[in-house]
Amino acid sequence: MTPQEEILRLRRELEQHNYNYYVLNHPTISDYDFDQMMHKLQDLELFYPQYADPNSPTQRVGSDLNQSFRSVPHKYPMLSLANTYNEADIRDFYERVRSGLEGEEFEICAEMKYDGLSISLTYVDGQLTQAVTRGDGVRGDDVTANVRMIRSIPLRLKEGSGYPHEFEIRGEVLMPWTSFEALNAQRAKAGEDLFANPRNAASGTLKSQKTRIVAERGLDAYLYYLLGDEIPADSSHYENLQMAAGWGFKISQGMKKCKTVQEVLDFIDYWDVERKNLPVATDGIVLKVNSLRQQRHLGYTAKSPRWAIAYKFKAERECTRLNEVTYQVGRTGAVTPVANMDPVQLAGTVVKRASLHNADVIRQLDLHIGDMVYVEKGGEIIPKVVGVDLSQRTTDMQPVRFITTCPECGTPLIRVEGEAAHYCPNDSGCPPQIKGRIEHFISRKAMNIDSLGPETVDDYWQRGLIHDIADLYTLTVADICGSNRGRIKSAQKVVDSIKASTQVPFERVVFALGIRFVGETTAKLLARAFKTMDALENATLDQLLSVDGVGQVIAESIIRFFHDERSLAILKRLRQAGLQMSLSEETLAGQTNILAGQSVVISGVFTQHSRDEYKAIIEQNGGKNVGSISKNTSFVLAGENMGPAKLEKAQKMGVRIVGEAEFLQMLSDGN
Ligand code: IVH
Repeated sequence: MTPQEEILRLRRELEQHNYNYYVLNHPTISDYDFDQMMHKLQDLELFYPQYADPNSPTQRVGSDLNQSFRSVPHKYPMLSLANTYNEADIRDFYERVRSGLEGEEFEICAEMKYDGLSISLTYVDGQLTQAVTRGDGVRGDDVTANVRMIRSIPLRLKEGSGYPHEFEIRGEVLMPWTSFEALNAQRAKAGEDLFANPRNAASGTLKSQKTRIVAERGLDAYLYYLLGDEIPADSSHYENLQMAAGWGFKISQGMKKCKTVQEVLDFIDYWDVERKNLPVATDGIVLKVNSLRQQRHLGYTAKSPRWAIAYKFKAERECTRLNEVTYQVGRTGAVTPVANMDPVQLAGTVVKRASLHNADVIRQLDLHIGDMVYVEKGGEIIPKVVGVDLSQRTTDMQPVRFITTCPECGTPLIRVEGEAAHYCPNDSGCPPQIKGRIEHFISRKAMNIDSLGPETVDDYWQRGLIHDIADLYTLTVADICGSNRGRIKSAQKVVDSIKASTQVPFERVVFALGIRFVGETTAKLLARAFKTMDALENATLDQLLSVDGVGQVIAESIIRFFHDERSLAILKRLRQAGLQMSLSEETLAGQTNILAGQSVVISGVFTQHSRDEYKAIIEQNGGKNVGSISKNTSFVLAGENMGPAKLEKAQKMGVRIVGEAEFLQMLSDGN
């Protein structure tokens, strides 16, 4: 066997094992043998680079290089489906199809509606050539490199399985519940924001700049729609997908051909329960007329096909007993009431706590301790109490009274006029507020001190080592170790990474201070406008308000922060510790006010700089990059192939379109 033949043989064999493992869930060799085979292929490919192939199974580990996504047009637009919520709507759909087909017999294919992000894959000669997100339906982002990291998507189809020369297949990219929970657990540990649901997690992952992240996060994909010029005109949806399964795709589970409305309704009832045992999130059922000929006959409305419809499941709801209301105090001092209930199974997890948001919600629900309450879990992970079964209320039950003092420090709570939340005003003495501020300070988007997490912060605080953010900078290895010498190595790491954080740029220091209402974006705006901490500290209300994006509430909060002696004392110590208290020379050098007060939308593909670079350039020159066109948009920076929807909107609203060359000229001219 020549090396080339050996490489091809190994690839085919590894592809088959990938398929067995990720599509069929039925591995036939041990992980060890799989790894051995993979290493052998890696070695051969290293030795014979002339046989490299982006679709090789070795390419699924990913890289750390940053990529940006090209916007590309869809060959066939990606439409969405009309939604329905009840049986009557389904009967209407059925009747519309019947009359549209003038009495001809028809079959409806019923299948799961997956709750992820839609993707369109193109295969040419059995090889994956392109993967594009839905985008606006007309154009999407080319995410091919990332999609190659999804193990259940075949990079190369089974030889001789009869696939057409060229076709597209569409489906949903999902993060399975297990991967989702593991990812959130890991993020919680690192003090990072959690993903609210698997769909957001899948979306964030698929748009990740680094393919390695995608490779690590265990995404999955189910395919549900085959299209292309070579798909036989007289074929049917169900049979086409069964064929696609034979080529190597993971297709929608539990597809069923139905002849009557009753069969459809039975299918829905069955899966409304059974879906809880699926490894991925589903939010409904999709019904499609099976015959492609009949689909063509029925055609499309402006937005969606007439031959298909989505039925959305009702959010899952259970009834359980409310035992107690407890209260959580956050970093800002906001007090959140939490319902503690008898444990109940809801959407695949056991629920015993649910957020009640604020005092108004409790009052509106007229909650009593002992009430039987309805808890619902929509697309989010935090369940909520949506109602009370009043028929089960008895006269001895006591209404829930919102607390008047802080459960953590006993300080009387305050409620600001016009705000729903109650606050504990003891920001310098209330433990969760202190710890919360420290956790915010060390978080990734702030000072990024990644050797610390919520547990270590809690530990140091309990041991009296830290009382505020400035204390971090005087921590020593000896302090951290205490009597436990075994901790020296990790303690050194902590001290080193705290020290390293003194180089974090000024704009992130502003964010890290945790000034109320000053998020990441506002912090950036403030840093650019005032350039030094001194200037920011001494800014007047009017000066603050003159910064585009800073309103009354934010401005007042900043003033309050810098008028508080305790903040000033902490700032002084942070300054002594060597934190960046002004914009770096580098940032300053490139900074102008040419675009001050202007909102710019970026659209299309560029040749001179990437989209991200243009975003930075706009900000460096005092402008703001915004996502969508409105009457407040100053102009659209348009590259090639600007989306037709955006173009039309810009024209309609009379927003100026500025080309790449013109934009760069504008900056160099200084106007
Ligand atoms: S078919 C022209 N089938 O739901 C028909 N869509 O609003 C194309 N979806 O954008 C879609 N599961 O992202 C189809 N089994 C399924 C689906 C499904 C989920 C998503 C898809 C689409 C949206 C429809």
